Amino acid sequence: MAEEKETMIRPAEGGLHGEVEIPGDKSISHRSVMLSSLADTPVRIHHFLPGQDCLSTAACFRAMGAEITFHNAEKTELTVKGNGLRGLREPGNILDAGNSGTTLRLMLGLMSAQPFCAAFTGDDSLRERPMGRVVKPLSRMGARIYGRAGNAKLPLMTVPADGGLHGMIYESPVASAQVKSSILLAGMYADGSTTVVEPVTSRDHTERMLEAFGVHTEKEGTAVTIHPVDHFTAPADIDVPGDISSAAYWLAAGSIVPGSDILLRHVGINPTRTGILDVLQAMGADLTISNRRTSGGEEAADIRVRAAKLHGTEFGVDIMPRLIDEIPAIAAAALFADGDTVITGAGELRVKESDRLQAIEDQWNAIAPGSVEGSADGLVIHGGVPVQAGRVESYDDHRMAMSLAIVGLAGKGVSIVNGGCVKISYPDFYDTLDLLQN
Ligand code: S3P
Repeated sequence: MAEEKETMIRPAEGGLHGEVEIPGDKSISHRSVMLSSLADTPVRIHHFLPGQDCLSTAACFRAMGAEITFHNAEKTELTVKGNGLRGLREPGNILDAGNSGTTLRLMLGLMSAQPFCAAFTGDDSLRERPMGRVVKPLSRMGARIYGRAGNAKLPLMTVPADGGLHGMIYESPVASAQVKSSILLAGMYADGSTTVVEPVTSRDHTERMLEAFGVHTEKEGTAVTIHPVDHFTAPADIDVPGDISSAAYWLAAGSIVPGSDILLRHVGINPTRTGILDVLQAMGADLTISNRRTSGGEEAADIRVRAAKLHGTEFGVDIMPRLIDEIPAIAAAALFADGDTVITGAGELRVKESDRLQAIEDQWNAIAPGSVEGSADGLVIHGGVPVQAGRVESYDDHRMAMSLAIVGLAGKGVSIVNGGCVKISYPDFYDTLDLLQN
């Protein structure tokens, strides 16, 4: 059991002021290393996210023969030199995905198609997360994946598929970019075309990055099709935009801490990710989007957020994939809004790094008694309930820690147990907070 450390957050009495360069997008950073590792020309990646999750991906692909060189101490600039689409080598040890569902689920798709065995593990949280959602469809393609809990939980192992993988049409019961991407990556090596149909379209970073590597996918409604691929034409450079999921904490904090005015630079605004902007605007947030540009097939912009009086809102399943990781930040904002915020269709939050619906219900109620009512797939947050100072649990979940920090900033301060887990996706989070507070 790791030693428990507490991070103190004091109330932001004078508001939050300044500019923030938003760290690289986590989803895009993972994919940049994965696809570059399958190219046969070097790719230089700029503004990479040096969070633990993306470093786990880099370590796994290094273990399979990709040459990965970091050019600065912060690990935001790197070059990846792969050995081609069929050039991955048998890893000499178990591949450790750490806390990262994206690393594991996407690798399971890719590794199912390789001519060697690979074994996988992860941390305490990842070992309990559901992998059947990728193992089942990959098995239908002919993949051989074995492991605990009926092949649905880590530790898992991929074994070369007898006769290779077969294309298929898969109707996914969940809107999940990890499931979709895992199947599309396996589909590159299949003997025919592979289609994934989702209930609602999830983030499309895999499709966009494949395009940048010369691979065309076809979209029709919520369906995406990939055909067998034999070669990547890699870009020389990939510029990763800032992560809107990291900007989310400042969008929420800047809205609810009176007197705040923050400029967020270089935020990715891919339309499959911008649900938080829609919801905050529906709540009355004061957001100004400027300097829109496109880089590496992804849109980015600067966003200015100024404090505003928020009011409650309602949203559900249709918008969920566009803001799935931002629910804890939105729940922080909702606590300081006028009236109720009603969230439905959010059952997927129960299988994230922690059970985030339960975590929000328990931690919000711990310092703002009576503020949250949970249901099987949602939350009702009663805004305006008095918030006290207190000790709160991060559950070792980076997004819970940062959202609790926002509650403390706008409220009476908090002490976050194991607040250090922010290193998973936002290593500079507390330093940035200090700069904005002073
Ligand atoms: C991700 C997809 C989402 C998201 C996760 C990153 C990705 O997960 O919550 O943080 O990079 O594909 P699901 O696919 O499980 O919804």
